[in-house]
Amino acid sequence: MAGDVRRLMAGEGGPLEREGLVKRLNGALSSLPLLLRRTDGDPKSVIAMRASIARSDWRALSATLATLKQRHPFDARMLLAAEPTPEMLTLGASIHRTSCAGCHDAASADSLLPAKSLVAQLKSMPREEFAARLLLGVRGDRTTGWRNPFSDFELAALIAYYAN
Ligand code: HEC
Repeated sequence: MAGDVRRLMAGEGGPLEREGLVKRLNGALSSLPLLLRRTDGDPKSVIAMRASIARSDWRALSATLATLKQRHPFDARMLLAAEPTPEMLTLGASIHRTSCAGCHDAASADSLLPAKSLVAQLKSMPREEFAARLLLGVRGDRTTGWRNPFSDFELAALIAYYAN
């Protein structure tokens, strides 16, 4: 979510893609109260975030998310190999070729949420954020319907492959 807000603040994307980002933020907010309850968090912050989205107040939303991130940090260490082995790079390349390239290596269409080049995406954001996006579900959209069927090691291999 914080990454999507950062993209909105930076004025990234055309009108259609920005609309897609806002939709995705609203979607993420609908599952957040449950996640927060499960982790002893305060679901009230969700009400404030909903109001921020309604006002397109990305700065306020970003601040609330920063506080949440501090309370519930994301540990990306498992997914970020310091020294990827040749085997990891080969594994990453092979998963990419069989399962991702079909959508992500095509020219990205003008749509709500286009499938972009994963190498370019990794370059455009902190590596931790890319790891979070992968971990939260290499879903793409309804056509894939995937719910992250990959192990930490496979995700780490994919990240190492895109980074190299
Ligand atoms: C059927 C097409 C399709 C396939 C196959 C596919 N993706 Fe995607 N992917 C998309 C689309 C469309 C989006 C943009 C919509 C979105 O962000 O949810 C996307 C978004 C993403 C994102 C960004 C998510 C975000 O939070 O912005 C990542 C990372 C990603 N895909 C990784 C992968 C990887 C890795 C694979 C292979 C294991 C893969 N995708 C396979 C269509 C696909």
